[in-house]
Amino acid sequence: MVNRGEVFFVVAVADNGVIGADGTMPWHLPPDLRRFKALTMGKPMVMGRKTFESLPGLLPGRRHIVLTRDPDWAEEGAEVARSAEEALALANAPHIAVVGGAEVFALFLPLASRIEWTAIHASPQGDTRFPPFDRAAWTETFRENHPPQGPTPGFDFVTLMRKPLV
Ligand SMILES: NC(=O)c1ccc[n+]([C@@H]2O[C@H](COP(=O)([O-])OP(=O)(O)OC[C@H]3O[C@@H](n4cnc5c(N)ncnc54)[C@H](OP(=O)(O)O)[C@@H]3O)[C@@H](O)[C@H]2O)c1
Repeated sequence: MVNRGEVFFVVAVADNGVIGADGTMPWHLPPDLRRFKALTMGKPMVMGRKTFESLPGLLPGRRHIVLTRDPDWAEEGAEVARSAEEALALANAPHIAVVGGAEVFALFLPLASRIEWTAIHASPQGDTRFPPFDRAAWTETFRENHPPQGPTPGFDFVTLMRKPLV
């Protein structure tokens, strides 16, 4: 697979591994949405068809490259890709944001060199989990803790960089 740019993930994961429930995210965390916006602005975003359909609408200032196997699927503002290779070729940018969901994270995990991980200190019910990955292959280079506030759970913004192969 040809990698035409840095592939990085932006993901929010609860302590129990949950990232989604019923086609949406089981929390409302405005600071995380702001971080998502800052990290993805101006960069092509690659996502699964289910994640695209979970968005409230097109996110301004970013391309939406959507993976689907459905030959008939089309939506205004979405660039359709039928494989990881096609998505990367379409993205054709120095930094490519892979934004989920679980199926698409699993697909791109071998290619990702950075993960922008929001660790949410809650254990909500859910049906979608971040795929298993080898945490020992990654170095934590940044962590910012945000304590809980009222009903809002605490969370950490974390950056993980893939360790170089030795
Ligand atoms: N917490 C977070 O950071 C975060 C981020 C993103 C999403 N989410 C949540 O995750 C859930 C959705 O995740 P998900 O894993 O169910 O779905 P998804 O990864 O968003 O989308 C899956 C779809 O992508 C397409 N696809 C997957 N692999 C493909 C391949 N190799 N080639 C072509 N197309 C491919 C297929 O579309 P077709 O069925 O159309 O063929 C598949 O059904 C939602 O609850 C969402 O809210 C959470």
